[in-house]
Amino acid sequence: MSILVTGGAGFIGSNFVLDWLAQSDEPVVNLDALTYAGNLRNLASLQGDARHVFVQGDICDRALVDRLLATHRPRAIVHFAAESHVDRSIHGPGAFMRTNIDGTFTLLEAARGFWSTLEGADKAAFRFHHVSTDEVYGSLSPAAPAFTETHPYEPNSPYSASKAASDHLVRAWHHTYGMPVVTTNCSNNYGPYHFPEKLIPLMIVNALAGKPLPVYGDGQQVRDWLYVKDHCSAIRAVLERGRLGETYNVGGWNEQANIDIVKIVCALLDELRPDPAGPYARLITYVTDRPGHDRRYAIDARKIERELGWRPAETFASGIRKTVEWYLARGDWVAEVQSGSYRDWVAQNYGGRATGA
Ligand code: NAD
Ligand code: DAU
Repeated sequence: MSILVTGGAGFIGSNFVLDWLAQSDEPVVNLDALTYAGNLRNLASLQGDARHVFVQGDICDRALVDRLLATHRPRAIVHFAAESHVDRSIHGPGAFMRTNIDGTFTLLEAARGFWSTLEGADKAAFRFHHVSTDEVYGSLSPAAPAFTETHPYEPNSPYSASKAASDHLVRAWHHTYGMPVVTTNCSNNYGPYHFPEKLIPLMIVNALAGKPLPVYGDGQQVRDWLYVKDHCSAIRAVLERGRLGETYNVGGWNEQANIDIVKIVCALLDELRPDPAGPYARLITYVTDRPGHDRRYAIDARKIERELGWRPAETFASGIRKTVEWYLARGDWVAEVQSGSYRDWVAQNYGGRATGA
């Protein structure tokens, strides 16, 4: 028995693989193209571990996916691989359409072909778990109730539109072909191995370097933050016990405005690594807003709690402290990431933005 994970060298995927192999001996075949976001250093502790089979390759490569399925005969596919950064999708949407839509289509077709060769208990047990996002639901007004699984799809960015399209494909493959799928729509994750172009790791890394902390617009956009290991436990619960064809929203019951997140990170750094030059919050710099910036996301995670008994284990206070401590201890990881294409990205995304209130 094994599972096939796609995108297992990225932020959430690598946390999932590490947690999976810490809790079970069931092997993981990890298919990842190693884009800028894929980092095998995240999985360094698995070097020489026969339970982890890493394959560098593209989910759009049907022949490769067919070969992997035929060779390893996994009991499930957990599909993380995606282009995941909203700002990058605004600068260059093409890669998002290719990986998130064509890639999911290719995987679904390969999985359908493999699943149709299975029989009896193996066929009944097979699962295709699609990992998706709350962004497919669009933006909430301040007083609106949180997203439930029946909220209309109203994606607003090229990223969220491509993820919405992939969700629709997964749904259609269940309804038309009877494919045994489950989908999770999760809120913003944070934690170890988070690529430092996303809000929380960017703020930690920039603060430690004495660089500006760029807050888009007025900083009052609200996100619902979940510690990444809680996302991983939710995926395991849905994979094992979720009802076929269902979607489950996953969130941290933790809505926060961006500016408050940045101030919390600054206060933790003031405590754990004080800067002789003064409080880190002095580095906060308001910059031009993200085009089409969604104002608020909030997840109603009652369905997964009611049906599967899942709730996040971390509070935001405990999770963000662990996260800041992790980045303080892992300057080596940050330095390696920064020596790569990360630097070009900073120039591309922030170079053209005006600063000011
Ligand atoms: P990430 O960008 O950190 O990692 C994506 C991984 O996919 C990388 O390792 C990359 O190399 C790989 N990849 C990209 N294109 C590929 C291709 N064509 N073939 C094979 N591999 C490819 O992303 P993440 O933040 O870990 O997100 C993982 C999944 O979870 C995504 O599907 C994302 O939409 C979803 N999600 C993310 C969040 C979040 O807060 N980060 C929240 C909810 C849902
Ligand atoms: O909601 C789930 C989504 O969360 C996932 O589907 C995405 O893959 C993931 O990247 C994340 O998307 P966001 O756009 O919410 O994350 P990001 O870290 O890019 O930004 C978080 C908020 O912080 C957002 O409102 C934009 C703002 N921001 C971000 C950056 C990078 C800033 O104010 N300044 C910044 O420099």
